Amino acid sequence: MRKKIVAGNWKMNNNFQEGIDLSNDLVSKYKKSDKNKELIILPPFIHLTSVAEKLSNSKIHLGAQNCHTEGRGAYTGEVSARMLDSVGVRYCLVGHSERRANFFEDNNELKKKCKQLVSNYINPIFCCGELLRDRKYGSYFEVIEDQLEVLWSLSKTDFEKVIVAYEPVWAIGTGETASADQAQEIHKFIRRKISDEFGSETAENTSILYGGSCKPSNAVELFFKPDVDGGLIGGAALNTVDFLAIYNAL
Ligand code: 13P
Repeated sequence: MRKKIVAGNWKMNNNFQEGIDLSNDLVSKYKKSDKNKELIILPPFIHLTSVAEKLSNSKIHLGAQNCHTEGRGAYTGEVSARMLDSVGVRYCLVGHSERRANFFEDNNELKKKCKQLVSNYINPIFCCGELLRDRKYGSYFEVIEDQLEVLWSLSKTDFEKVIVAYEPVWAIGTGETASADQAQEIHKFIRRKISDEFGSETAENTSILYGGSCKPSNAVELFFKPDVDGGLIGGAALNTVDFLAIYNAL
């Protein structure tokens, strides 16, 4: 049975002490409700080692927001999957729309990042999603299909480590959420594509998360849909009460 997951992407928020305070608060209030439900936090790099310690006796999992395409070498300022593994990171975002837009990440680069992650025992959380103009012109299925091509470069065994996150760019940080029906339509499409590539059993076992202005008030309706297996949360992940309310909607 596939896992139900809520993951909190802190983005470039929280200084070091604020990040520690948020982690402590989460650890003290989080109650794992079911062995099939997982809570993950994705702090900035500089928090990872200390947050890993804070989470060590909890059931909250640790992830990162990015990694480099190579394992080691002369890449000043970069962080490799191998380094992330060494501090206890078990999940990592790949292809978040903010990185695609601001750092021009393309499919080729994202393939390399996925390979680095799976070779270092880290589960990629692969993000895909269309721009507002793609939605308006009705080309969103093609856009997502093209983005998913990154995942078809993985072997079936490696793909089985991947979590997919559908994040329509027009819904990120805008307060505008995709309706539960819009999310379901795309999640079903993504699952069908996975089935075409790796078979129906793998598709049924893949968790597909929704992201984009997800909050306590809309999480229940979104998570109720059969192909929506949880959420990738931005703004609301910075507030313990809201973040745990979203988790409790799983
Ligand atoms: P918001 O929840 O703030 O819209 O952000 C979503 C997101 O980008 C998570 O990765």
